Amino acid sequence: MNLLDLPVGFDDPIAALLGFHRRIERQLAILGQLPGNLEARGIDAHSTADAAAILDFFSGPLAIHHADEEALMPILEMRIASAAERDEARALRHRLESEHREMDRTWRGLRRPLEGIAEGMHRNLPADLVQYFRACQSTHISLEEAGLHRTATRCLLASDRAALERGMHARRMRKYRFQ
Ligand SMILES: [Fe+2]
Ligand SMILES: [Fe+2]
Repeated sequence: MNLLDLPVGFDDPIAALLGFHRRIERQLAILGQLPGNLEARGIDAHSTADAAAILDFFSGPLAIHHADEEALMPILEMRIASAAERDEARALRHRLESEHREMDRTWRGLRRPLEGIAEGMHRNLPADLVQYFRACQSTHISLEEAGLHRTATRCLLASDRAALERGMHARRMRKYRFQ
């Protein structure tokens, strides 16, 4: 984990959050290839390196990304003027938060075999669980990009953006300090 999961000097926390989705997709693509690579080639340097990179990413920066989003959503709700839209935003927040928990649960099932593979041991990495994790992540990303971006662009104040940016930096500094 390092500070590199945010662009240096980023000045738009929403763009930084959504930009992070591209990194998630890259890691998901590597994860998606791993069961096939293991089946074809067994454990080799490539697979162990991929498993280690996936572990680093999904155990660290992703959890912080979820925390960033969970800080953003209540602020968005507060800024929406129409009661009906606010209710919609609240329902979306509940769904996204529950998906974060579901993805965390699924990740726990993948972490153990990946740790073994990263250490060069033969472990069964369940392809169906990998597929499920990838599908959850990609549906979730689409939902966030459709539901959060537009509202954030329209409703957030400059002071909200500044507060979000401070929170995002603080979460990363905290993680960095305690490593
Ligand atoms: Fe999310
Ligand atoms: Fe996200």
